[in-house]
Amino acid sequence: MSSRYCVLGNPVKHSKSPMIHQAFAAQTGKPLAYTAELAPLDGFEAAWRAFCESGGRGANVTVPFKQQAFALCDTQSLRARRAGAVNTLSLGQNGRVFGDNTDGIGLLRDLKACEVPLAGKRVLVLGAGGAVRGVLEPLLNEAPRELVIANRTGARAEALAADFRDLGTVSGGGYEVLSGRFDLVINGTSASLAGELPPLPETLFEPDAVAYDMMYAAAPTVFLQWAQMRGARTIDGLGMLVEQAAEAFFIWQNVRPETAPVQALLRKTLIEG
Ligand code: ATR
Repeated sequence: MSSRYCVLGNPVKHSKSPMIHQAFAAQTGKPLAYTAELAPLDGFEAAWRAFCESGGRGANVTVPFKQQAFALCDTQSLRARRAGAVNTLSLGQNGRVFGDNTDGIGLLRDLKACEVPLAGKRVLVLGAGGAVRGVLEPLLNEAPRELVIANRTGARAEALAADFRDLGTVSGGGYEVLSGRFDLVINGTSASLAGELPPLPETLFEPDAVAYDMMYAAAPTVFLQWAQMRGARTIDGLGMLVEQAAEAFFIWQNVRPETAPVQALLRKTLIEG
């Protein structure tokens, strides 16, 4: 009998996770059913419990429930605790719920696959929400020379930087305090969703800089278009999405799927609409 998994979110209809996990299941020969489940905005925990009662073994969690998922777990991984958010829930044999966060490792794996160096580099992260909190620890573990967090609400970036200062040279503030050039700029804001661009200085990029948007779409995001016009190499968040899913699949199935063919499949379906 196949094990049941799902992605819980609101909205969730356009989630690519079912396609990704079904591709991993086919590739690894693991019999796994994976669906997208809409959880009511005021009923996340009830939706998870109902899914478990109907035979569910685990779930990915997406907007806006990652913090609620963290709160309902019996235990969480260290990286989930640092992120303060859970994107992967697993139901143990004993009925206990384990929470993990694979977003950060997903970003790191994709940066490695794209051969983007981090050690000794000057890195800028845009945004100070949950998406950014989840990637700071793995980024800092790669020993960048400096990590700067810039956010529309500067105080949120300052507070976030203070939370991670034990892991490296981190500072945070509003966009107006940005100075100097960066080797890597990661957009972790949701501005791209609205087709908007944070107010960035013209002189943001070093000559060989990389611009990475944690969002993706069929066409390059406004941030990536802006960065490309200023000479940066651009990468969107499709690879991160597939890598975080692969790490969740590994947690559930103890098998690491090949991500490159699944990323290619996803890119093809995205472009073909
Ligand atoms: P998530 O959990 O997806 O990170 P969030 O916590 O709502 O979602 O955070 C969204 C981030 O995008 C925030 O950093 C937000 O800036 P504020 O903290 O000032 O709200 C940022 N953001 C959203 N829209 C933006 C825009 N149009 N320009 C710049 N930043 C934007």
